[in-house]
Amino acid sequence: GEQDLEIYLEFAIKLAQQCGQMILDASKARYSTDSMVYGKSGNPADLVTETDRLVEELIKSSLKERFPEHGFIGEEHTAAGHKHEFKDEPTWIVDPIDGTTNFVHGFPFVAVSIGLTVKKEPVVGVVFNPFLNQLFTARKGHGAFLNLTTRLPLSYPNPPLRLPSNISQCLVLTEYGSDRSSVTIGKKVNSVHSLLSKPGNVTWSEKKAGFVRGIRSMGSAALNICCVAQGSIDLYYEVGCWEWDVTAALVILNEAGGYTTSSQGPDEGPVNIFGRKYLAIRSGSPCDGDENTRQSQLRLIREMW
Ligand code: IPD
Repeated sequence: GEQDLEIYLEFAIKLAQQCGQMILDASKARYSTDSMVYGKSGNPADLVTETDRLVEELIKSSLKERFPEHGFIGEEHTAAGHKHEFKDEPTWIVDPIDGTTNFVHGFPFVAVSIGLTVKKEPVVGVVFNPFLNQLFTARKGHGAFLNLTTRLPLSYPNPPLRLPSNISQCLVLTEYGSDRSSVTIGKKVNSVHSLLSKPGNVTWSEKKAGFVRGIRSMGSAALNICCVAQGSIDLYYEVGCWEWDVTAALVILNEAGGYTTSSQGPDEGPVNIFGRKYLAIRSGSPCDGDENTRQSQLRLIREMW
């Protein structure tokens, strides 16, 4: 029940903070001690470090000890060939380091992501970036917070949270991922092209016909979704990331009043965390209001899927 979720959230927060310290320490020592290996496919764009493994091991063993009945799905565990059956029982879905490439390069957009599902629904989420000391947390029905006390979405007194009325007022995030096959990259680049470019011969004054203000790419799906929850990004979409990248952050986004979908569009029902196609829209964005606007603006992205 309710109380259990509170206990789970508190435990996950402590664990994430402990992992955050491990990640920071490892990052200071990484040139001397951390060995970098490529993903199991040998893909040089899909990195795993010793720290990913150690952090996941810590999370897994701590959860096992405290909640022996719970299920566990982790990135490295899965990469090591473990199969899991997704059941109704509470299940932790964990990415020890989301943004491994950033971690390797010292780009401070790195997070540990700990999510929990109950009856297959994501209900608890903790995403912690130890480099920027940003802790995003949520449990179902109780709102989302930054550093435990600041409620999300953020709303600055001056200026107030913008409420754009058109996709041409949107700041958009997307990622290119580790699948570098030409077809996949072609689709992703095309989607960015159509979001950025002015259609046909329209004049600047007609530009409301549709291109976004900017596209960002930060290298961590979990933190990307938290940016949307925070209200700093209007829309994030990605094809190809995994349940451990998004589960925790999706709870945070939902609790911040945002909207997510995993497949074709807004009419597809609740998010499928295993869908590998994710779209996150911030609360109050142009895509999150009037149904016609939402539909027409989402079409652009759906074409890519
Ligand atoms: C990756 C990051 C990246 C996204 C990839 C993910 P990892 O997670 O979230 O932003 O583009 O799809 O796999 O490998 O750093 O845990």
